[in-house]
Amino acid sequence: MIITIASLKGGQAKTTSAVHIAALLGADAKTLLVDGDPNHSALNWHKRKGFPFEVCDERQAVKFSRDFNHIVFDTQARPSHEDLEILAGGCDLLIIPLTPDALSLDTLFSFTESLRQLGAKQFKVLLTIVPPRPATDGLFVRQILEKAVLPVFATDIRRYKAYQKAALAGILVKDVADDYAAAAWSDYAAIVREIFSHSGRGADQ
Ligand SMILES: Nc1ncnc2c1ncn2[C@@H]1O[C@H](COP(=O)(O)OP(=O)(O)OP(=O)(O)O)[C@@H](O)[C@H]1O
Ligand SMILES: [Mg+2]
Repeated sequence: MIITIASLKGGQAKTTSAVHIAALLGADAKTLLVDGDPNHSALNWHKRKGFPFEVCDERQAVKFSRDFNHIVFDTQARPSHEDLEILAGGCDLLIIPLTPDALSLDTLFSFTESLRQLGAKQFKVLLTIVPPRPATDGLFVRQILEKAVLPVFATDIRRYKAYQKAALAGILVKDVADDYAAAAWSDYAAIVREIFSHSGRGADQ
């Protein structure tokens, strides 16, 4: 399965999502994370040993990709229309992370409109960095997306400090010493279950 993670706006948790989805997929099948961001955030995150997936630069992807069951592609923010056409055409699922705020929502609608013009159908919005209850930001944005008949993952990625700690330490969120590390990890685990339940594939396919 080829999964691409893209958004028009920066800071939507693309790299965080790519790393954690790749780690969960990598538990059952050979998984490659392709770092398509010139800042090389994912490559830097992965510098330590012991990750259950490999990472390579976009320019090495063709060479490596045939050896893997799953490929997760992390991209830079603000892809050009041309980039978007290539990204959308070259994957089984395009995940669009979205933080629940008005500015991000505006850019999401421009993004999904471009996708619609390109005829891309295999995309799904992932609500990320969702403030904890009793805040209702996540619910509010989810209702707007549902009204607009946009596909959205049923699980929210909740906002936890553990993610920043994980990125700083170059480890996965489940391995951070934090009371909420397991809860944070369980959100991405639920997303991967959703991916497989909709694709009809098993984790090793
Ligand atoms: N669920 C979360 N809870 C709290 N903080 C988070 C969460 N997900 C990501 N973050 C933090 O938000 C910031 C942006 O995340 P990330 O780098 O993954 O976004 P990005 O979309 O890849 O950004 P860019 O567009 O710059 O590539 C980071 O500091 C990250 O640690
Ligand atoms: Mg990034």
